[in-house]
Amino acid sequence: AIQRTFSIIKPDATKRNLTGQIVAKFEEAGLRIVASKRIQLTLAQAQHFYGVHKERPFFDELCEFMISEPIVVQVLEGEDAIAKNREVMGATNPADAAEGTIRKEFALSVGENSVHGSDAPETAAEEIAFFFSGLELVG
Ligand code: CMP
Repeated sequence: AIQRTFSIIKPDATKRNLTGQIVAKFEEAGLRIVASKRIQLTLAQAQHFYGVHKERPFFDELCEFMISEPIVVQVLEGEDAIAKNREVMGATNPADAAEGTIRKEFALSVGENSVHGSDAPETAAEEIAFFFSGLELVG
């Protein structure tokens, strides 16, 4: 089925001018960018977005990293978009990521791993609603 998923191009990638190369990977995989904006998160926004991880040892480091530079938030649409995006991103840790994936090619470490993508339809809907209004989604 046609789905929408939420994507973040993270600070390590925007800083190294990799936005275009990452977007090209999404488009080559058949994902359409139906919303896109470059923003810089506040600490409160980062802590809210990553709320499910607040008990993890890396939570503070993760939030500080996510506010360190601008990010690009996007909504990607396509057939099985959630799974397809996860495939294109590759494993969370670039050391485990398959050849040709975004994280294999660009990520620096498990923390500085260039992209985020929703893991399920429910989280996709929540994440999209947190960053975008309906008016900003143009299919
Ligand atoms: P993301 O998909 O954005 O969701 C949670 C993030 O936590 C994950 O990507 C990783 O970048 C980050 N993360 C997971 N494990 C670690 C770790 N051990 N150290 C730092 N960051 C981590």
